[in-house]
Amino acid sequence: MEKTWTAVDHYLTDLLIGSDPALVNALVGCDAAGLPAIAVSPPQGKLLSLMIRAQRARRILEIGTLGGYSAIWLARGLVPGGRLITLELDPKHAAVASANLAHAGLAGWTEVRVGPAAESLRQMIAEGIEPFDFVFIDADKVGYPEYLELVMKLVRPGSMIVADNVIRDGEVSNAASADPLVQAIRRYLHAVASDRRLESTAIQTVGSKGYDGLSFAVVTSG
Ligand code: SAH
Ligand code: DHB
Ligand code: MG
Repeated sequence: MEKTWTAVDHYLTDLLIGSDPALVNALVGCDAAGLPAIAVSPPQGKLLSLMIRAQRARRILEIGTLGGYSAIWLARGLVPGGRLITLELDPKHAAVASANLAHAGLAGWTEVRVGPAAESLRQMIAEGIEPFDFVFIDADKVGYPEYLELVMKLVRPGSMIVADNVIRDGEVSNAASADPLVQAIRRYLHAVASDRRLESTAIQTVGSKGYDGLSFAVVTSG
């Protein structure tokens, strides 16, 4: 089935997205620098971009930059004058991302902050930084529960919080899973579900990245 999923992703990408020099350049740059090929797929990236555009988001926070491929999609959805801050642990990844974002003409819209994401988040909370309209969580999976707790201090009613890789080949529904990543994702989803300030869903996806999924939460006024 994976072959079919990938073929359909290619079909949809050719039809609905087409070839995009900045995005192709970013993936080539990631590959040349030896970064793992784990960026969001083109249809997933465009979904995030369209959600941001529909929401007219002005401020975006990304946790887990890698080489900036998803950051390009996110930043492209911003209203004019908007801003993306993306958090990355590895300085090498951050350098590749900064180059890719600059090549995409997005240097002035984006900022890559290097360091452990939890520390960067705590610093932003301490600074009293303006809340974010859209948050994409895609760094180390074990960190997701802590990232959610911190992100809740950086959002406002109406903000959207999306998390990648929440299905994990279906393992997520196995409460007895011995995989610490699965258990962390389960804690994340349970935290989202039990937080009365959030209204949430999650969807399973197949495609060139296999069988996985995304969760979506909107901050309500409650
Ligand atoms: N969002 C990217 C993919 C991110 S891959 C895209 O779709 O294009 C996950 C990234 O999270 C990696 O670059 C990894 O270095 C980073 N990461 C891992 N642990 C982290 C941490 N504690 N803080 C910040 N980033 C982290
Ligand atoms: C993998 C995929 C991801 O989207 C990610 O953020 C991290 C790892 C993976 O396939 O290993
Ligand atoms: Mg991911």
